Amino acid sequence: MKQVIQTLALPLFRNVTRFWFVVTFLGQLIFAYYILMLYYKSTALGDFEKWNTANPHFYIKGDVAGNLIFGFHVALAAVITILGPLQLISMIRNKVPKVHRICGRIYIFSAFLISAAGLYLTWVRGSVGGLFSAIGISINALIIIVSAFFTIRYAIQRNTKLHNQWAVHLLLAMSGVWLFRVFFMLWMLVHRAPVGFDPETFTGPFLNALAVFVYILPQAVVALYFKARFSGSANKKLAFSLLLFAITIGIAAGTVGAILGMWLPRI
Ligand code: HEM
Repeated sequence: MKQVIQTLALPLFRNVTRFWFVVTFLGQLIFAYYILMLYYKSTALGDFEKWNTANPHFYIKGDVAGNLIFGFHVALAAVITILGPLQLISMIRNKVPKVHRICGRIYIFSAFLISAAGLYLTWVRGSVGGLFSAIGISINALIIIVSAFFTIRYAIQRNTKLHNQWAVHLLLAMSGVWLFRVFFMLWMLVHRAPVGFDPETFTGPFLNALAVFVYILPQAVVALYFKARFSGSANKKLAFSLLLFAITIGIAAGTVGAILGMWLPRI
């Protein structure tokens, strides 16, 4: 048995990581497609009322600053959602390093800007949900800012190992908003009703737990990933592979839920 685990652990670890990456990349591409079709298209057509498809307070007549910042936020959202996973593809990094460097700079710069715009929307304009949601997403913004800072710092210092680690932390932090929608829709798929939250105010214990689950816990999963990857222990690789496999199945099911129940009906 020990021999079998020794032989299988590394290929399993690699393949489950690839599986997670493919599911995440496809899911994020579809989220970006939704952003392009809903916000970019309506903006290009001058139909700003369409911004209110998801929520009636995204376009507010007369609130020039708020509308501009919301538009800027969703414009960056599509860019970072497409660029993030692309930066992790080693073939692009190795074959066209210049592309990686240019996209990296755009990605990091956008990370700071989208967080600043998000913080404005949360605390100045006022967002959907209660205080706990506002604090949760602000912690997400903080994690993005810190991870972006260290990702670029270690890139400049040519410290590839630490640069790569911080880049994965950054990608997961930047994916928090997408993960929120995916796991929210997984919950709705399972319960077929708003359980654990009030759909009118968008507050409740489930949404509080979800905020912790998608904004903070992924950072621990990334730490576990690198622990398993750099460890010589086959058991650690096996245990992490099983954990990531279970999470990825959840992501895949939630993404289907989000496509059918949230994104396609809005565009
Ligand atoms: C970094 C990745 C992020 C992406 C891809 C993203 C994407 C989006 C999208 C697409 C919307 C429009 C709503 C929809 O159609 O679903 C939105 C709205 C919003 N975002 Fe972000 N966002 C990100 C980060 C943040 C952060 C870090 C914050 C807060 C600090 C934030 C705060 C908001 C707020 C307040 C709204 C308006 C909706 C509401 O009132 O809840 N976002 N975002």
